[in-house]
Amino acid sequence: MQNFEFQNPTKIIFGKGSINQIAGEISKKAKVLITYGGGSAQRSGVLDEVKIALTGYEITEFGGIEPNPEYETIMKAVALAREMKIDFLLAVGGGSVIDATKFMAAVIPFKNDPALLLENAGSAIIHALPIGVVLTLPASGSEMNNRAIISRKELMHKRAIMNQFLFPRFAVLDPTKTYTLPVRQIGNGVVDTFVHVLEQYMTYPVEGKVQDRLAEGLLHVLIEEGHKAIINPQDYDVRANLMWCATMALNGIIGAGVPQDWAAHRIGYELTVLYGVDHAQTIAVLVPAMFKVLEQGKREKLLQYAERIWGINNGSEAERIDAAINKTRDFFESMQVKTRLSDYGITAEAIPIIVKQLKAHGMVKLGEHQSVSPEVVEKILELCL
Ligand code: NZQ
Ligand code: ZN
Repeated sequence: MQNFEFQNPTKIIFGKGSINQIAGEISKKAKVLITYGGGSAQRSGVLDEVKIALTGYEITEFGGIEPNPEYETIMKAVALAREMKIDFLLAVGGGSVIDATKFMAAVIPFKNDPALLLENAGSAIIHALPIGVVLTLPASGSEMNNRAIISRKELMHKRAIMNQFLFPRFAVLDPTKTYTLPVRQIGNGVVDTFVHVLEQYMTYPVEGKVQDRLAEGLLHVLIEEGHKAIINPQDYDVRANLMWCATMALNGIIGAGVPQDWAAHRIGYELTVLYGVDHAQTIAVLVPAMFKVLEQGKREKLLQYAERIWGINNGSEAERIDAAINKTRDFFESMQVKTRLSDYGITAEAIPIIVKQLKAHGMVKLGEHQSVSPEVVEKILELCL
């Protein structure tokens, strides 16, 4: 196992009816900005429930945060928050609302150009307002981590920042608030969670047995429970397990002390910026092809995954790896997330454009071996068609 430090300060408040506990987590004197997305939180009644829980607080609202949250939208919220002298931010939504709110929290007290905070993976952030989360979409893991992914279409950027000041103070996880998710977002959430586990698992062995077994446990839960959420959207236990799974997949625990990959995520950002493909859709396309192209560097873990996750024991090593990759693709498709670029109307002509963007963003040595060069990305994308 590799050396590591681990600290996660986010308090989780889990379960049905837990929204009414948020008042206990925010100072009575706080001026609260509630942030949300394009309307689902109003339609489902979650927003009203939050406002009732905060009766007596001075509240301002900012809605309209789009999926893959935009810098320009966030700057509007920052202006409002400064004007209203906000000192606590409460995100009500999925990864996009949470990430946008994290970036707001860093920008509001920052005196210089906000764009500087997106440079060098957010290392310039030395202070941020406190934030809380009411999660409505289990997928990103943002509710219990220090990351935010911010898009800036005018510059063709989607960038990840990571900073200890971005951990939420608390996150409310009420599984009943996910009952209204459309099938597309249920599938996206399960696939994104699955790939978060794989990004921290499918590398090379370092005798991280705790991490491996935890990761394998999460993968099994996703395979067992994922489709049940599509068939029976109001099954509480299914939703509860998927919600906790998404949080556990990216709160730092399974990735501590083991190598990590993240190349699929990084390449996926370019697909989202260029072609508007949903985040989970990008990685559903990329992962099977990446495992095939990077088979040698990931051989031991691919064989372990084949056996422990899919029960594949027969055949040559190459056959077992191929079978595991096929099972992975079938699983994504069973969650109704398509796994080919052509499914999203993207053709071979896009390949040089995607590679050019990665180069422009300095992403030329990706993956746990830094072996995913532009030439390797080209090969991967050809297999994605
Ligand atoms: O905008 P509204 O109307 O609220 O609708 C949203 C949105 O259209 C809808 N939705 C959310 N909760 C709902 C609901 N619809 C019905 N019922 C509910 N309960 O779902 C749509 C997608 O929401 P979004 O927040 O964009 O989805 P997700 O949680 O998948 O977040 C995606 C973003 O997270 C980033 C992605 O890059 C992307 O920008 N990620 C963040 C990470 C992190 N911070 O650690 C890691 C991830 O790898 C990921 O990159
Ligand atoms: Zn992701």
